[in-house]
Amino acid sequence: MDRKRETLFYEVKPHVWRIEEDGQMFAVKRYKNQMTADKVRKLHDQLLAVEFPFIAPLSEKGTGHLVIQPWLTDTKPVDFAAPDGRRASLDTLDALHATRDVIDWEAAGYLPRFRLLNKWEHRLQRFRHNEQLVTPYIGSSAFEQFLTYGERALDVLKAVGPDDGPMTVLHGDVVHHNLLAAEDGTVYLIDFDLAAAGSPSVEIALWMHRVLPHVGYDAEALCSELPRLRQLSDVGIAMLRYPNEVLREWNYFAGLPDMGRRQIAGHLTRYTKQALGSWERLCEFSENELDRRSAR
Ligand SMILES: Nc1ncnc2c1ncn2[C@@H]1O[C@H](COP(=O)(O)OP(=O)(O)OP(=O)(O)O)[C@@H](O)[C@H]1O
Ligand SMILES: [Mg+2]
Repeated sequence: MDRKRETLFYEVKPHVWRIEEDGQMFAVKRYKNQMTADKVRKLHDQLLAVEFPFIAPLSEKGTGHLVIQPWLTDTKPVDFAAPDGRRASLDTLDALHATRDVIDWEAAGYLPRFRLLNKWEHRLQRFRHNEQLVTPYIGSSAFEQFLTYGERALDVLKAVGPDDGPMTVLHGDVVHHNLLAAEDGTVYLIDFDLAAAGSPSVEIALWMHRVLPHVGYDAEALCSELPRLRQLSDVGIAMLRYPNEVLREWNYFAGLPDMGRRQIAGHLTRYTKQALGSWERLCEFSENELDRRSAR
């Protein structure tokens, strides 16, 4: 007898669904750009071929603009406020970057080069344009200070020169909700839409930017907790000075309708003030570390 198949759709976001079919759950994502979907498919193929354990395999049913993978059940976004979450997410990123030992990512051809300076110059430029909108919340002095921190960080980064670390695959978007922690603590990676080729230290520094607000911006303590961070390249150390999260979030804020702005303004203002109170110390950490290295 033909049993009727039941499929349940739950919309996670306008372009992401959780689908339940015959007791199995899948994540379905629709891409605007098929080239991105193709990149994500090729990347998963290459990682699965070397049995990389921290991704969900893609279903062959996904074609064209659609990418389908098993839903990672019993997972939740990694908690950067918890030492275990920090360690496990760093381990997973290190494992991803270490695939360069078995995959020639430069030869892969479909990964764009990660262009940090271009991206960050553009981000700072947009923040500058948003002055009228941002200053009523944080004041013009804080606005100017963040502009100066951004400009100085870019100067230092240009002086340090390009990161000539080994080229590997970078996830490209290490926000907590793209790093899903299972009940045993293992962290899985989803959402490779921004994957690129670059130096591991660049991604680890971006991960530190995400984590630092959860440890009172104490980079020294974070490096003591996870000594592997002391191997960060000079570029990675210089990157810590750039107020990446603050600038990105205010630029995002500027693009929201009034209602959306009202919802996040209070939180974002407090977040920004907390960052400002700690930024000088973070810059000192970065500067001292670079001085110490050049004195060697
Ligand atoms: N395979 C999966 N298993 C479990 N949850 C998933 C899976 N794929 C997606 N999700 C959930 O759906 C959310 C959105 O998916 P995804 O990150 O791919 O979309 P996105 O629009 O690119 O997200 P963003 O740009 O906000 O990072 C994820 O943060 C996660 O909560
Ligand atoms: Mg995502």
